[in-house]
Amino acid sequence: MRSRVSFVVLPIFAALFLWTTAQGQNTTLGTRFDGYSYASNVIGYVNMTMDYCDIQAAITAGNFSAALGIYTTGKNSWNGLTRRTFYRFASFTPGAGVVEPLHDALAMGRNASWLDSMIKDAIAKRNGPLAAGLIQVAVLKYFFHEVDEGFTNVATYLNDTANNGILISDATGAPHNVDEAFALWAGGSPSACTTLSSWAAQLGADLETTFVGRSYINSAMTLALNELQAAARKGNAVSYNDTRAMVQRYITLLGLQGVMRSVYRAEVAVACKRPAAQIAEAQAFIAVHLTYLEPMLLASNVRPALVQDLNRALTNSTPSYSRALPAIRVVVSALGRRMAEVGEPRFEVITAGWTNCKLNSPPVVGRRLL
Ligand SMILES: *[C@@H]1O[C@H](CO)[C@@H](O)[C@H](O)[C@H]1NC(C)=O
Ligand SMILES: *[C@@H]1O[C@H](CO)[C@@H](O)[C@H](O)[C@H]1NC(C)=O
Ligand SMILES: *[C@@H]1O[C@H](CO)[C@@H](O)[C@H](O)[C@H]1NC(C)=O
Ligand SMILES: *[C@@H]1O[C@H](CO)[C@@H](O)[C@H](O)[C@H]1NC(C)=O
Ligand SMILES: *[C@@H]1O[C@H](CO)[C@@H](O)[C@H](O)[C@H]1NC(C)=O
Ligand SMILES: *[C@@H]1O[C@H](CO)[C@@H](O)[C@H](O)[C@H]1NC(C)=O
Repeated sequence: MRSRVSFVVLPIFAALFLWTTAQGQNTTLGTRFDGYSYASNVIGYVNMTMDYCDIQAAITAGNFSAALGIYTTGKNSWNGLTRRTFYRFASFTPGAGVVEPLHDALAMGRNASWLDSMIKDAIAKRNGPLAAGLIQVAVLKYFFHEVDEGFTNVATYLNDTANNGILISDATGAPHNVDEAFALWAGGSPSACTTLSSWAAQLGADLETTFVGRSYINSAMTLALNELQAAARKGNAVSYNDTRAMVQRYITLLGLQGVMRSVYRAEVAVACKRPAAQIAEAQAFIAVHLTYLEPMLLASNVRPALVQDLNRALTNSTPSYSRALPAIRVVVSALGRRMAEVGEPRFEVITAGWTNCKLNSPPVVGRRLL
């Protein structure tokens, strides 16, 4: 009997094996992307980049109800029989008693709906760039959650190593959380229309903060996530926690670059008489980057008054780089960092493709800020 069952079952397994191999790209397991090697299958998170592209397409087509639909009910990413959604990323809160330092720093004690309401409000006002940008902030929020959850798994493992090995296993434990975080940062396909890492890449190019052609925020983040993966597999809570703090610093730098580039681009777009939509987009991205930069600065113990000054300088109705710059400089200095690390806007790169945009005096950037 036994052998007959195997005789029947084995070909089915073989067929399944061939089928799954043929569908090889439907798993991230063992694949490498952008300098990071996935230890588990997080294709569902990679698939969220398709939802994002579809939301962007709906916004571009002016179909905001379609964008809202994909945001709230999902489309391309399956978690068992239900779809993953950006809505859940935006409205996630940790379970009672669970401490998630990065995620909680971003949430700043606000309730489950703070970011979701901002996103829905932007969609209701048909502000496409703001809606799309804030959905990417929801991705960042869930990225933080995954980094934090990896630590929780390592800590729980260490509390009872004999019974909790599963919590540091590649497939379902802390390394899997780190994989999910990387998928949220960079996706897993060069065709993704926008990811957090593509923000970093653009900011690196526009502010000339690249090393051998790559934004150094991206290089640093890739190394940090490789480090988190190793710490997760070894159950090394100290290394994991130290690296988590680095991740928070890189996101803070990303936000500083984001507001600097956006306010510069907004001012130049006005001066170059660009289409209203393009000006509005640059302005929206000042707000998008501020949404996570402010909490990050407060979490780094920058005085609230300085953060408020920065907010005022950036959200003035007439965007002005020269007015924003001193406020940016003050918080950069409060962090103990240097402006050279944040970079400075490159007029030719930021205005690439803008015809008839030859200003006599583009907004002044200065090496003196080093
Ligand atoms: C994933 O699997 C589906 C069928 O389940 C197939 O249509 C699709 O092409 C596969 N995608 C990739 C990227 O291999
Ligand atoms: C908007 O998208 C929805 C869902 O895809 C579709 O049913 C509807 O016809 C679209 N509306 C317009 C005006 O194109
Ligand atoms: C990811 O997308 C592919 C291609 O559409 C699909 O075949 C696969 O089932 C999806 N997987 C998950 C987990 O969402
Ligand atoms: C969340 O907070 C906002 C702003 O403080 C408030 O308007 C809203 O009613 C709260 N929502 C819930 C579900 O508590
Ligand atoms: C650590 O393990 C002990 C005994 O198994 C358990 O009572 C306690 O709740 C655990 N603490 C944490 C933080 O997991
Ligand atoms: C993790 O590191 C932070 C500093 O970055 C420290 O404040 C915190 O106590 C550490 N947490 C644990 C559990 O070691």
